[in-house]
Amino acid sequence: MYIPYLMQIEKVTVEAPMIKTFKLKFVNEDEANAFEFKAGQFGEYSVFGEGECTFCIASSPTRKGYIECTFRETGRVTAALAGCEEGDIVGFRGPYGNTFPIDDWAGKNLLFIAGGIALPPLRCVIWNALDLRDKFKDVTILYGARSVADLVYKNELEDWKNRPDVNLITTVDPGGETPDWKGEIGFVPSVLEKAAPKAENTIAIVCGPPVMIKFSMPVLEKLGFTNEQIFTTLENRMKCGVGKCGHCMIGSNYVCKDGPVYRYDELLTLPVEY
Ligand code: FES
Repeated sequence: MYIPYLMQIEKVTVEAPMIKTFKLKFVNEDEANAFEFKAGQFGEYSVFGEGECTFCIASSPTRKGYIECTFRETGRVTAALAGCEEGDIVGFRGPYGNTFPIDDWAGKNLLFIAGGIALPPLRCVIWNALDLRDKFKDVTILYGARSVADLVYKNELEDWKNRPDVNLITTVDPGGETPDWKGEIGFVPSVLEKAAPKAENTIAIVCGPPVMIKFSMPVLEKLGFTNEQIFTTLENRMKCGVGKCGHCMIGSNYVCKDGPVYRYDELLTLPVEY
């Protein structure tokens, strides 16, 4: 189970300082054809001789034959990964973990709220939903970063902005704007309160730094969202990915198997470290 797929880096995109996206294609065509995953799942990416690191699959399951991951260079393995170039071979184990129940959301409005580098886990669900656009009602994406330079997926943000069937709200922290910035200026929770999306028949999918989550939840509550309408995904607690090492455990809960996707009322039943 620890043997990775061999993946060739087809494309490298520099998203923001220290943040890159890799498009990875399976070296073995049969493996590419047999591979399936669902929105919300993650994998272990390896640089041979260096080790593994955990990221969500950032591409949509509706787009076959490849996967994408977006990562920030934070340590030895991610630095080695960031040093790889187009054409290089890396390893991938997965998909692991549970999934967003996107089929259950048919006929509902979707509200995505993301902060900083937490857009990649939601990008998978966003593209999944947009590729099946007729199934859902209003789609709103609220995305905030510290500064304009820190916004990831700038090309896709442009795409989403130009789509009449997507309401995109982007914001940067005060002081993070540039002279030509046309989005909002302010922290995600206050921009959320101002945008005031309706709670009725809406699912909110929230992912971001703890402080963003902490201050966004009361706003969602004020807007009328119940905990059962809110989903999130936990990251960066995994090592083996398959329920063996215990590294990801919160109480008796294995984030790598029981998660990483949690409905907010389920998340609140976990011990207080989350
Ligand atoms: S990551 Fe090893 S048990 Fe979950």
